[in-house]
Amino acid sequence: MEQKTNAKKMLVHLFLVAVMLCLPGTTIAQEENGFTRINVVEDFTDNGFQWFRDAQLLCAGNKEESNAMTIGWGGIGTLWGRTAMTVYVAEKRYTKKFMDGSEYFTVMSFDFSQGKVLDYMGRYSGRDGDKAKALGLHTAYTANGTPYYTEATMVIECKVMYAAPFDSKYYRSDAPKRMYANFPAGVHTEYIGEVVGAWVKGEQANATINAMMDRRSIRKYKDKPVEHAKLEQIALCGINAPSGMNQQPLEIRIVEDYSLIQQLTDIYKKANAEQVSRDPDFKNMFRNAPNIICVATPKGRGQLDAGMLAQNMMLAAQSLGLGTCCLGGPVRFLISSEEAKPYLARLDFSPDYELLYILAVGYPDESPAAKPRDEGKVKYIK
Ligand SMILES: Cc1cc2nc3c(=O)[nH]c(=O)nc-3n(C[C@H](O)[C@H](O)[C@H](O)COP(=O)(O)O)c2cc1C
Repeated sequence: MEQKTNAKKMLVHLFLVAVMLCLPGTTIAQEENGFTRINVVEDFTDNGFQWFRDAQLLCAGNKEESNAMTIGWGGIGTLWGRTAMTVYVAEKRYTKKFMDGSEYFTVMSFDFSQGKVLDYMGRYSGRDGDKAKALGLHTAYTANGTPYYTEATMVIECKVMYAAPFDSKYYRSDAPKRMYANFPAGVHTEYIGEVVGAWVKGEQANATINAMMDRRSIRKYKDKPVEHAKLEQIALCGINAPSGMNQQPLEIRIVEDYSLIQQLTDIYKKANAEQVSRDPDFKNMFRNAPNIICVATPKGRGQLDAGMLAQNMMLAAQSLGLGTCCLGGPVRFLISSEEAKPYLARLDFSPDYELLYILAVGYPDESPAAKPRDEGKVKYIK
C-alpha cells in the first residue's frame, strides 16, 4: 500500500516537473536544473581578482522580461556585515533598466566551451533583440523570481543593498576622470548586492575533474605573454607530479624570451617555406604560442615521468585560464637541425639529456569541442 502511494507521488512529481519544463519562464528550483547549492564564503575557490576579469554574465528582470550583459568590472567581499558582490553598469546599457527595476540580480559564470555566450552578450544589446533566445539559452528563476540561465556553470544571486551612479565631485584620481572624459556609454552605476544564494553545476563542483574534462589542445593563442607568476605556478605543479622512485629524471625550461621562439621559428620557416606561406596567420612554429615549456629527459629513460609532468602542467595551466598543446613535431624538427643547435643550447639542458616535448602555453584564442573519446577502451574486471 505504502509502495503504491510512493509510486503515485513519484508519478505526480515527474508529471509536474515535465509540465514545468515545457512551460517557458517557469520557476524551477536550481537543485532540479543540475545545480548544487554552495556557500560562497567556503566554496568559492576562484581568484577573486581574476574572476571578473575573466568576464561574467549579469542578469536582471522578472518573469515577464529580463536581460543580461557581459561584465568585467566587479568586486566580492564583505560589507555592512554581509557577504557582498558589487557590479558596475554604464548608463546606456539596456540591462540598466532591469537593474534599476529589480530587487535582485544574478551573476553567472560560463565555461570556456561557451565562450560565445559572453562574447555575444558583451557585443550586442538586448535593445536590438532577445540575446538569450539568439544564443539558445534557457531562462529559469530562483525562488525570489530572479532570472538566470540553466546553461551557466555557476549562479550567484544578490539582493541590491545600494545603487548609485559615480559622482564626479568625489573623483580622487585621474582614473575615473580619464575613463569618463570620452566614454559614450555614460557613467557607471555601482550596485552593491548581498549574496543571498549561490549554485554550481553538479559536475562543476569538483574543480580538478572540471579542469580535466574541460582541457582541450589549443592551437590558437592571443598575442599576450603569460604572466611570470602563472608560469612559476605551472612549473611547481609539474615538478609535484610523481616520478619513479622519486628520481625526477627531468629538466624543464620555460621560455619567456620571445626572441628565442622567433630565432627557432626563422630556422623552421627557411626549411618549410611553402607550408608556412600557406598559413596567413603563421607567427611561430609553436602554434603561435607566446611562451613554450621545453622538457628533456636522460636519453632513453624518464618518458613516463615526463608524461605525468606534462599532464600536471597542462591541468595547472587549464585551471589558470590558459591553454596548452603538447608538441612533438617541432621537437623532431629542431633536434635534427644543425642550424638550431646554438639556439637550443640556450636551453642549457645537461649533456646527457634530450629534448622530449615542448608545451605551447598561452591565452586561448579558440574553444575547440572535445574530440570523441572511446569509452570501449575501459573494461571493468569484476
Ligand atoms: C569582457 C566585457 C566586459 C564588460 N564589462 C562591462 C561592465 O563591467 N560594465 C558595463 O556597463 N559594461 C560592460 N561591458 C559592455 C556590455 O556587456 C555591452 O555593452 C553589452 O552589449 C550591453 O548589453 P545590453 O545593452 O543588452 O545591456 C563589457 C563587455 C565585455 C565584452
